[in-house]
Amino acid sequence: LKAKYLGLIADAGDESAIEDLRVQALGKKGEIALLMRGLGAMSPEERQSVGPALNALKDEINSAIAARKASLGDAALAERLRSEWLDVTLPARDRRSGTIHPISQVSDEVTAIFADMGFAVAEGPQVESDWYNFDALNIPGHHPARAEMDTFYMHRLAGDNRAPSVLRTHTSPVQIRSMEAHGAPLRIICPGRVYRADYDQTHTPMFHQVEGLAIDRNISMANLKWVLEEFVKSYFEVDSVDLRFRASHFPFTEPSAEVDIRCSWEGGTLKVGEGDDWLEILGSGMIHPKVLKAGGIDPDQYQGFAFGMGIDRIAMLKYGIPDLRAFFDSDLRWLRHYGFAS
Ligand code: PHE
Repeated sequence: LKAKYLGLIADAGDESAIEDLRVQALGKKGEIALLMRGLGAMSPEERQSVGPALNALKDEINSAIAARKASLGDAALAERLRSEWLDVTLPARDRRSGTIHPISQVSDEVTAIFADMGFAVAEGPQVESDWYNFDALNIPGHHPARAEMDTFYMHRLAGDNRAPSVLRTHTSPVQIRSMEAHGAPLRIICPGRVYRADYDQTHTPMFHQVEGLAIDRNISMANLKWVLEEFVKSYFEVDSVDLRFRASHFPFTEPSAEVDIRCSWEGGTLKVGEGDDWLEILGSGMIHPKVLKAGGIDPDQYQGFAFGMGIDRIAMLKYGIPDLRAFFDSDLRWLRHYGFAS
């Protein structure tokens, strides 16, 4: 009996076969239970020898079962280890991840340069009131600048006679909002989206500007010049620059100047700081007293400079991109070509 069961257990191929054998041998109606029941009919001497022998057999079968189960488990584990093996030394598959849009990169970079000079970042709404976008900036209703700016007006329902809101045409309304929020002295940089109805190689109806503003008791054009020189050197990564302030006109600055940087175009690539060409990069000036007043600041106590620069424009210049519209086409091949995406 012992040889029979030990043999069968050793041959059992899986857990359920072992369980069947256990029932067959040790179960309530199993072979050994039957023999145990036979003990009652035996003489005391017989019982004394057969009883312990049966118990020993029971133990042996139990431990054979346990041993077989363990070895089957080991084999199953070994099989899993073999079939589920993973070669962690293989090179990883090339996974393309998202990247920051070049305009956002340039915007962040410009902001960081001015932040280093102590300018705080300000923001304003893109849907702006007539007042902040124009009137407060000394651009009254009849002013030609309103027409020049190709303004997008928000629709109002019939019977609603309030002045229409506009999509801000520049970041300058944030000048007023910042003055109102913080008062003087003030040093603010404001990057953001602006809108004008215009579309060609160098204009898109949505584009980006960064506004700069410094108000204090002794601010002059000299401060403006220094700040812009530091910016241009840092942004274009050159040691020296030559700026040209060209007299201009903006209703919200007096005097006003457009600022050019000396440059050359060598084989189509821009070189900043050398050469005989001039490149316009921004509009600027001393904040008009009326604008300070509109922002709640006393022009007898404080002066300030302001400038506004096209982020898209300086991005095109830095990366040698001929068509602004490509920035907003979301064409991965284009983005990869310029190294803006992986
Ligand atoms: N807001 C002007 C524009 O959009 C730029 C500017 C800003 C000029 C601040 C002077 C001072 O063209």
